[in-house]
Amino acid sequence: MNLSDLNKIALAMVTPGKGILAADESSGTIKKRFDAIKVDSTEDNRRDYREMLFRSQEAMSKYISGVILYDETIWQNAKDGTPLVKLIEQAGAIPGIKVDEGTQALPNCPGELVTVGLDKLAERLKKYYERGARFAKWRAVIDIGPRIPTQTAIRANAHALARYAALCQAAQIVPIVEPEVLMDGDHDIDRCYEVTQRVLNRTFQELRVQRVALEGMILKPNMAISGKKCPKQAPVQEVAEKTIRLLKSCVPAAVPGIAFLSGGQSDEEATAHLDAMNKIGNLPWRLTFSYGRALQAAPQKAWSGKPDNVPAGQRAFSHRARMNGLASTGNWEA
Ligand code: 13P
Repeated sequence: MNLSDLNKIALAMVTPGKGILAADESSGTIKKRFDAIKVDSTEDNRRDYREMLFRSQEAMSKYISGVILYDETIWQNAKDGTPLVKLIEQAGAIPGIKVDEGTQALPNCPGELVTVGLDKLAERLKKYYERGARFAKWRAVIDIGPRIPTQTAIRANAHALARYAALCQAAQIVPIVEPEVLMDGDHDIDRCYEVTQRVLNRTFQELRVQRVALEGMILKPNMAISGKKCPKQAPVQEVAEKTIRLLKSCVPAAVPGIAFLSGGQSDEEATAHLDAMNKIGNLPWRLTFSYGRALQAAPQKAWSGKPDNVPAGQRAFSHRARMNGLASTGNWEA
């Protein structure tokens, strides 16, 4: 492992003013997104949609540091035959790849999941590196309910994340470590805080056990936020202050950057929260975005599968990317 090169890539992924586009929806998830805009989820439509994003010159060259791809996309070519990976590189952004293979039920823990995909991961990483990927992503999912998460689920997921991260670094690929605590329930922000703290503490413990170099990774966490169905929704400033306090309590300063997931927040909320955190400032790591839905909801709607709408889709994407770019330095204004 060349740690200095890994650290350079990690820092480039969190360049001030820029953040990451998560365009790594699995075939099942992109179908759900396309269903909502009444577009068939064919291989060509998925390619056309993502090509539209990666050819958004303003967004890609000014506000996007890297793009997380799904396996299908990393091997696809644009309509004119250029590999999609090349479009990303030509815009000055770094290609990345989602390498987990989704979740499975965790035995003895009803309702809980563990992320899988470690088998043969070393071989897959080698092929992705040859294709141009310089970072990867693995997402663990932790749900909050009356008796969950169990410590069993937290440990199993943290262990897999750490094994994945070590394999990435051995392949000279920067791991994005994503332990996502879902915001789906009716729990309040303090319950989210407490669970996220347990999850992050265990994750960093496992990363140490697997000897992962913290300087060569990026953390992708959820924010401390009220559950979607909680009657009391914490305001922006509370989300920002609690998230910062939480992260300071468990994320070592050696980690170069933290790139949040949006997790079902509206696109403006996701921007406002990131901006408020960066306005607090004085942080040991760079804080930016690695949004999927909060960057893509608007362009998906504007595009709606029609070639004539490509410029409108690109404008919508560039606008959200610019707003989040501003938020990554605390310069966004509502
Ligand atoms: P969202 O921002 O839509 O949560 O997606 C980010 C992501 O990559 C989830 O794994």
